[in-house]
Amino acid sequence: MNYIFLFLLICGSLSAAEDFSGKQEMNGISWMDFRQFPEKWELVTIRFRKDTGEMRITYANPLAMQALKEGKTDYPDGAVFAKTGIHTGVDPQFISSVVPKGIRRYQIMVKDKKRYAGTHGWGYALFDPEGKTFNEDPKITQDACYACHTIVENRGDVFSQHFSTTRYVKPIFTQEEKKVNTITYVTKAVSALPNNIRSQIPKWAKDVRWVEVEILRKHVFQGTLDEMKPLLEHESLRSKLPAIFASKDEKRFVLIYPGKSEDCMEMTQMTSISTDQEFKPVMNKFCLYD
Ligand code: HEC
Repeated sequence: MNYIFLFLLICGSLSAAEDFSGKQEMNGISWMDFRQFPEKWELVTIRFRKDTGEMRITYANPLAMQALKEGKTDYPDGAVFAKTGIHTGVDPQFISSVVPKGIRRYQIMVKDKKRYAGTHGWGYALFDPEGKTFNEDPKITQDACYACHTIVENRGDVFSQHFSTTRYVKPIFTQEEKKVNTITYVTKAVSALPNNIRSQIPKWAKDVRWVEVEILRKHVFQGTLDEMKPLLEHESLRSKLPAIFASKDEKRFVLIYPGKSEDCMEMTQMTSISTDQEFKPVMNKFCLYD
């Protein structure tokens, strides 16, 4: 009896510790097939995240580029976008100048309407700087990629718009044209929150702003929490309430609220609390520079 119990215990802990890292393939997308994208493909655009200082550079293969430039939302099979996330720092000899400091990750999306029918025909893959998978369940990750990209369903699930380094390119998709998806919030009483989240809310808050996008809440990976931070920061500054994004099962969440602290002098201090891989809340404080 004891042996059976021990056996079950070992099996249980083995499966809990399944390692997804180190593979050069995810979701049927092989890193080796695409690793030369920065040399071979055209630049689509560059984006920058002000809070983390992460620079993102997106490329498209010819099929994807042509559809993008024509403003088509029905991308043909074989269209591929690839994005590089890059750490930045400052030039120590001229600290106002931001410089790239190494690759953080690669993200790829491949169109194959049959193969990826469940995710609007796009297959998503994520690789580390060595072109290997991170230790996160690929199924959960690809669904989370898809869930966020459906925000721009009106653009064929593609956020980027074409940009040129030599001339101004008017964005094809604008908010005004038609009713489009964005992140929406509702006000919720702190008393209505689940215990694990409520215990992290500062005493002064009676209400919170709560993200209400079903699909996004249903499919969450660690990266979703990170991507949501700047949006929550914006909403918490606007509403002067804590802003929260929580997964549907409420185990993973990220919460941000503004405050005052001597550390930040007259600037606003932001506190962010985000769950880690084991669902434990981790607190971070930073001063808001204009
Ligand atoms: C919470 C939202 C969110 C999640 C989750 C997300 N993305 Fe994106 N993705 C974006 C945004 C916003 C952009 C536009 C560029 C930028 O700001 O970095 C983008 C851009 C991209 C691009 C360039 C083409 C385009 O749509 O502009 C690729 C490729 C991409 N993401 C792949 C992925 C993959 C793979 C995953 C999952 C591992 C993923 N994304 C998860 C929001 C998200």
